[in-house]
Amino acid sequence: MRLLIIGFGNLGRGLVESLAEKKSFLYRRFGLKPRVVGVVDDSGAATNNKGLDWRLLVKKAYQKAKVSAFPNYKRISAVEAIESVECEIVFELTPTNIQTGEPGLTHIKKAMKAGRHVITSNKGPLVVAFRELEHLAKKQGVEFRYSASVGGAIPVIELARKLLAGNEVLEIQGVLNGTTNYILSRMAEEGAPFDQVLREAQELGIAEKDPTLDIEGIDTAAKLVILSNAILGRDVKFKDVRRTGIARITPQAIKLAKETGNTIKLVGVATRQTVEVSPKLVPLGHPLAVGGTLNAVNFKLDLAREISITGFGAGPRETSSSLLGDLIDVCRTIA
Ligand code: HSE
Repeated sequence: MRLLIIGFGNLGRGLVESLAEKKSFLYRRFGLKPRVVGVVDDSGAATNNKGLDWRLLVKKAYQKAKVSAFPNYKRISAVEAIESVECEIVFELTPTNIQTGEPGLTHIKKAMKAGRHVITSNKGPLVVAFRELEHLAKKQGVEFRYSASVGGAIPVIELARKLLAGNEVLEIQGVLNGTTNYILSRMAEEGAPFDQVLREAQELGIAEKDPTLDIEGIDTAAKLVILSNAILGRDVKFKDVRRTGIARITPQAIKLAKETGNTIKLVGVATRQTVEVSPKLVPLGHPLAVGGTLNAVNFKLDLAREISITGFGAGPRETSSSLLGDLIDVCRTIA
């Protein structure tokens, strides 16, 4: 199985490290022999049609190196690499832009048109063009997976679509942003001031480059758009989400909530009619009342009634859990 990895930032490097670590496990358990035939970033592409050397890949990932630090790298664009490197699966792991979806959107379309299966963590293309990409994958006869785009390590999309397939999903509620959850949790536990805990969240490396995307609920709204489209079968756009962030939540409000047995969480709620992100009072002990950087999702279902799942929603190693899951699933599907 030949893999082309577009994007060699935190997630691309995390994926390379997990693939290398799990090489013998993947073979033993699934008979899979993944070979990374190319890694690409905005500095160029390093390719080898027999597979790049694992030790070199891991070393460069560990060093947080740009692709231009690989021996024999070529100054070609991601699109050129997608069109010229022979492979079965393209991982699209470039940074998210939820306004245009680019550059990920172009990468995914080019890869599908070239007959490659696509696995992505990139929210932008899914927020901008969910239905278009689903149709294109179908038309081209390729597999398309995006488990890592929502909930990091939590298999929220596959849980709903596969294991709960006999149910109608009536409502999705989620704490989908680790940064805001960390800020609210720290404010609740210690009454710590907003600015200080935001800085800490940035130091943990989970906040978006522009943390207003977290604080204003934009990241949560993007994830909710994806969940609504992937699970509720809707065709929701970002502008359809009613959104309030956490900037106006004070330590006093949190203290008051605590006195009444509640906590405040930034919650995304999607039904067949509505999509909304806002701070909500959540009873302590409720499945959504998770602390720290955790994410949580609660499904309301016609048969199973309620199912909740909790886990780490960000981080390179955690997210590679979903990327590897998608890889194994694609390989099983096409086998
Ligand atoms: N900034 C996001 C978060 C990263 O805090 O959850 C994962 O999408």
